[in-house]
Amino acid sequence: MMQRWSRKKTHFPLLVILLLIFIVFTVLYNELSIQQIHEEPDPVHHRQETSITYVKPNRLSPAHEVLDRFSKCNATRDYSGRRIASLDRTVKTGPRRVASERCDVFSGKWVFDNASYPLYNESHCPYMSDQLACHKHGRPDLGYQYWRWQPHNCNLNRLDERIIRPDSVLKHASQWEHADILVFNTYLWWRQGPVKLLWSAEENGTCEELDGKGAMELAMKAWADWVAAKVDPLKKRVFFATMSPTHLWSREWEPGSEGNCYNEKTPMELESYWGSGSDLPTMRMVDDVLGRLSSKVSVLNITQLSEYRKDGHPSIYRKFWETLRPEQLSNPASYSDCIHWCLPGVPDVWNELLFHLL
Ligand SMILES: *[C@@H]1O[C@H](CO)[C@@H](O)[C@H](O)[C@H]1NC(C)=O
Ligand SMILES: *[C@@H]1O[C@H](CO)[C@@H](O)[C@H](O)[C@H]1NC(C)=O
Ligand SMILES: *[C@@H]1O[C@H](CO)[C@@H](O)[C@H](O)[C@H]1NC(C)=O
Ligand SMILES: *[C@@H]1O[C@H](CO)[C@@H](O)[C@H](O)[C@H]1NC(C)=O
Ligand SMILES: *[C@@H]1O[C@H](CO)[C@@H](O)[C@H](O)[C@H]1NC(C)=O
Repeated sequence: MMQRWSRKKTHFPLLVILLLIFIVFTVLYNELSIQQIHEEPDPVHHRQETSITYVKPNRLSPAHEVLDRFSKCNATRDYSGRRIASLDRTVKTGPRRVASERCDVFSGKWVFDNASYPLYNESHCPYMSDQLACHKHGRPDLGYQYWRWQPHNCNLNRLDERIIRPDSVLKHASQWEHADILVFNTYLWWRQGPVKLLWSAEENGTCEELDGKGAMELAMKAWADWVAAKVDPLKKRVFFATMSPTHLWSREWEPGSEGNCYNEKTPMELESYWGSGSDLPTMRMVDDVLGRLSSKVSVLNITQLSEYRKDGHPSIYRKFWETLRPEQLSNPASYSDCIHWCLPGVPDVWNELLFHLL
């Protein structure tokens, strides 16, 4: 029997859930590496009925290399237009979720607030990843930790992340193992170029090839079918976090410059800034898919507010798993990570927005 989480019961399960979400985000970002991605994309991960294997695009790999831990393509042809088998139930359209209608919490600006931020001390967080611990890895300017997201027409409910009862973790495990709250997100994985699809019934090992956005759409529609068929909005809250932007070309916010996020110390001031790291056609596709699910899925539309945070990425201040070559070291921008986010930092605010909508 599914237990419904209630805000009044206690604050602790929420903390656990937020922690899990934080870990999911962190793991998601850890899995993302520009050169090597071996994992299946998220939506497919959650579907047992799925009859398709996504195979990493092989543009960067030598011929005949195994592209996925389990499968390889014997040949490739164009995508046939086939859809992932649906559970064949129609989407019931109910009223759109209203939590966010009173105020668009995703429209606002970043305000320097060193009284309430950071929400925690980087070195005290036991789950900190070396990819995100920017201060530990030498980032000298800590300004990125002190920004509060201020929606234009309201204030966010404050998250109280500070009272922890370690002995209660297991007591509440039965509530979160049934996942009353699910947060999905997928994007960057698809931006690496063509994706190969290996349908399970394909006896000759021939893959179909599809561009990244098309493959993301295919996976998102399968995910949408799953949500439509399986999610009872009275028992589960489902969120979808929109794409997390990258800041790979400083010329987009500072015309004439040739860098990236390296050495950026403050958020963008230009409202409604939109860079190439947030692909608009992808955004519209996501709008379409989520539009069909509006009674079941709340959107965490974090793209625009994260777009402003060119200062929030680790750049060179993280652990790099590969050894850096001297020519890279002599040109820091060349190996800066402008994709992940430092913590404490921008993803904490995504969590605050999630908390606000719960
Ligand atoms: C907050 O920032 C202001 C202005 O930079 C500074 O004067 C003040 O000392 C800072 N306070 C804290 C607690 O860091
Ligand atoms: C974080 O904790 C460390 C170790 O306890 C301490 O040295 C440091 O000053 C703290 N940082 C902040 C910003 O409070
Ligand atoms: C698999 O290959 C065999 C032999 O080349 C061919 O006859 C058959 O039609 C192929 N099957 C599919 C599904 O393409
Ligand atoms: C791919 O081709 C090899 C050799 O032709 C064959 O042994 C293998 O079974 C094929 N794989 C699939 C999945 O059909
Ligand atoms: C998210 O916000 C952007 C504007 O910042 C908007 O264009 C887009 O349609 C929104 N996406 C969803 C899924 O609500």
